[in-house]
Amino acid sequence: MQQSQWSSRLGYILAAAGSAVGLGAIWKFPYVTAANGGGAFLLVFLLFSFTLGVAVLMGETLLGSLSRGVVGAMASLAGPRWRWLGAMGLLCSLLIFCFYSVVGGWTLGYTAMALSGSLNSGDGAALTARFNDYVADPLWPVLSHLAFAALAWCCVQGGVQKGVERTLRWMMPSLLVMMLLLAAVGLTLPGAMAGVRHFLLPDFDKLGMEGVLDALGLAFFSLSIGLGIHTTYGAYLPSSEGVGRSSLWVVLLASLIAVLAGLMIFPVLAATGIDPTAGPGLTFMTMPAVFQQLPFGQGLASLFFALLVVAALSSAISLLEHLQCFVSESWGWRRRSSCTLIIALVMAGGIPVSLSFGPWSGVTLFGKNIFELLDFVTSNLMMPLFGLGLTLLLGWRLGRTILPKGLGQPWQALLLGGWRWLAPLLIGGILIRGLG
Ligand code: PFF
Repeated sequence: MQQSQWSSRLGYILAAAGSAVGLGAIWKFPYVTAANGGGAFLLVFLLFSFTLGVAVLMGETLLGSLSRGVVGAMASLAGPRWRWLGAMGLLCSLLIFCFYSVVGGWTLGYTAMALSGSLNSGDGAALTARFNDYVADPLWPVLSHLAFAALAWCCVQGGVQKGVERTLRWMMPSLLVMMLLLAAVGLTLPGAMAGVRHFLLPDFDKLGMEGVLDALGLAFFSLSIGLGIHTTYGAYLPSSEGVGRSSLWVVLLASLIAVLAGLMIFPVLAATGIDPTAGPGLTFMTMPAVFQQLPFGQGLASLFFALLVVAALSSAISLLEHLQCFVSESWGWRRRSSCTLIIALVMAGGIPVSLSFGPWSGVTLFGKNIFELLDFVTSNLMMPLFGLGLTLLLGWRLGRTILPKGLGQPWQALLLGGWRWLAPLLIGGILIRGLG
């Protein structure tokens, strides 16, 4: 089968950064940062992203670019006994996709609400009730989820260059422009600087061990590492040359967007007196209240939710590409059919997830509903386990044979040290906490 390729390195970097930049950076990062000592959390998050994050991302990409295959990547380089690692990454991607598509659907629903002007009125309590009513409805969020999944299908079925790359080429710059615009509006509001201080000034007393581990988990999720997605994207590179530099670019862009998300959200919250530690509902419940108080609020709210759609979609694209690549390669299916199969599975799998916020909220296992269970099993168990397996494979089994050519001696030693010691120890930490 003809192996697909990126048309340029820039196209690849935008696609990989698009996978990383998503709801994790824009929706989760601000409220987790607020709860964990602002700048102190940011510092640790950046530290993890630029050490462990770069090491794992580079490892995943190298594996793909050297093996030229995706599913067989582990097996062809390390032997069939490592197949389980790739398979676990695929299963985890499918599970994440099911709940990610539901939240992606909410962003679509909220964009429609913002455009129609129905978010223009109501105080914080009314908006909270609206959010709870919206997600608990048995119909609308399910339809939004189906629409979101269908959108991902449209973007990916065209191919690596004509689908994924072409979409990401306009999505990423527009995301950046929309965020810069919203951050600029926020920063000019009276009282905005208090928000900037809250975001950037470190308060180490509020950052406990729990916060440090949260930073590690968020760095993993927000770089999309721990599933093999970057192995698939790496397989579409013409060679392994320059993988180190590209990986650094991806982490740099993803971190930049996370920081920009903070600069976009903290100042408006401070200016309007809303507590940024409001939790996961922050974006959907409180941001509309913020926009009501701004000039051109309806337009800005529509822009904000459209931005969330774009961010979520660029991550969903990577999940679909990874999964469809497995189906096409293993069973020789055409891309379009593979995409259809995966999306049908995601559509079906997302319905119970969506219903778990409403009629099926009573269906629980270990005290968690379906959504919480999927989130927990993927982020706290499967992704770290994949990361652990991958770094052990890279550090101890493949070792020097896989190091990128042209990398200086000290960098090689650093990378190898990261794979052998730093990553397994840190990831082991998250896993133990996840199980605890
Ligand atoms: N990195 C995405 C985000 O931060 O929203 C989430 C994600 C996408 C995780 C794709 C994993 C993945 F494969």
